[in-house]
Amino acid sequence: MKLEVSDKGYFGEFGGAYVPEMLYPNVRELQLQYREVMSEPGFQAEVEGLLRDFAGRPTPMFEAKTLSRMYGCEILLKREDLVHTGAHKINNTIGQILLARRLGKARIIAETGAGQHGVATATVCALMGMPCVVYMGEVDMKRQALNVARMRLLGAEVRGVSSGSKTLKDATNEAMRDWIANPHDTHYIIGSVVGPHPFPDMVARFQSVISKEIKEQCAARGSRQPTHVIACVGGGSNAMGAFFHFIEDPRVQLVGVEAAGCGLTSGRSAATTALGHPGILHGSKTLFMQSEDGQVEEAHSISAGLDYPGIGPQHAHLHVSGRVTYASVTDEEALNGAKLLARREGIIPALESAHAVAYLKGAKFKKEDRVVVVVSGRGDKDMATYLEAFGEKISDDVQ
Ligand SMILES: Cc1ncc(COP(=O)(O)O)c(C=O)c1O
Repeated sequence: MKLEVSDKGYFGEFGGAYVPEMLYPNVRELQLQYREVMSEPGFQAEVEGLLRDFAGRPTPMFEAKTLSRMYGCEILLKREDLVHTGAHKINNTIGQILLARRLGKARIIAETGAGQHGVATATVCALMGMPCVVYMGEVDMKRQALNVARMRLLGAEVRGVSSGSKTLKDATNEAMRDWIANPHDTHYIIGSVVGPHPFPDMVARFQSVISKEIKEQCAARGSRQPTHVIACVGGGSNAMGAFFHFIEDPRVQLVGVEAAGCGLTSGRSAATTALGHPGILHGSKTLFMQSEDGQVEEAHSISAGLDYPGIGPQHAHLHVSGRVTYASVTDEEALNGAKLLARREGIIPALESAHAVAYLKGAKFKKEDRVVVVVSGRGDKDMATYLEAFGEKISDDVQ
């Protein structure tokens, strides 16, 4: 199948731009200009130059030999954890800040859950000398304290959000409010494939460098393209980036892994494709977890970056159309996945990425399969959570 966005910003029945009147001129300006600016050779050269020289792309593709032996197939890790700032989020912030500059914006705002998008935004703002405000739920500020300190050191103002569940959804609400109050001089760098059109399409395009590199790196390893690409899904940007150039190739199985939290039937999860229904969330029509009368339900995941009750509209469409398989992994399984990668491959992943690793355990592969797993970020930010969860067993071998 093809995944083309319509003029009004839809992927099948999902997407669009449901924004208040105050924001309309801003969103419209972006809708009219993003594709044109992104296709300018000068703009592309600037993005590519920063991705290479500032962020350190291409990221390596690493053959995980122990995992390959364990699961009986070839397992390759796409190492987004090795990019500057420690997660894929920088791919998008580099693109968007250059776009904001082209549009003459003077101030940047962002929301963040795990803090990685906040750090990536603060980083490019420091680079470009632009003021930066990052909204973050107070629960997330506590569990991702290292990233709060990093953002502050980079010169960003971090504004704590104490409404709702004090997590990513609430931070996004506050950032939207800020944008409505400052529509002229401010660009909102949304950190995932969520929000009103053109954000889902624009962020997917900036992140598509991941699948472009996977294709090139697989070709360089005996020209065999992957049989599977597996990535975790919060809003869904690392997954969209990793799927982008494979969507039209039906030979490649695409798997998005969501957070089942305490379990799918526990009432404490973030598994949107299993539990969500269509509705309008953060400016687009998509799937999200909601009560019978359509109110957004609180999500739960041990991982701040997956602790979001919705997914981007492309994922909603890819789920309904059946092109992508969505699975979910519990907090406990993700913790085991993190320990497995640390112990067997010497890589401590972000808790978000640990969900993609944990998915391997229950999956069935053939010996000739070439399975690419996206390690979307590194685990430094999650050390406090790992310590708390494992306690004295942190040095025990994986179960
Ligand atoms: C390392 C890492 N992976 C994944 C995610 C989830 O976001 P997305 O689904 O947009 O890739 C986050 C979010 O903060 C993250 O920090």
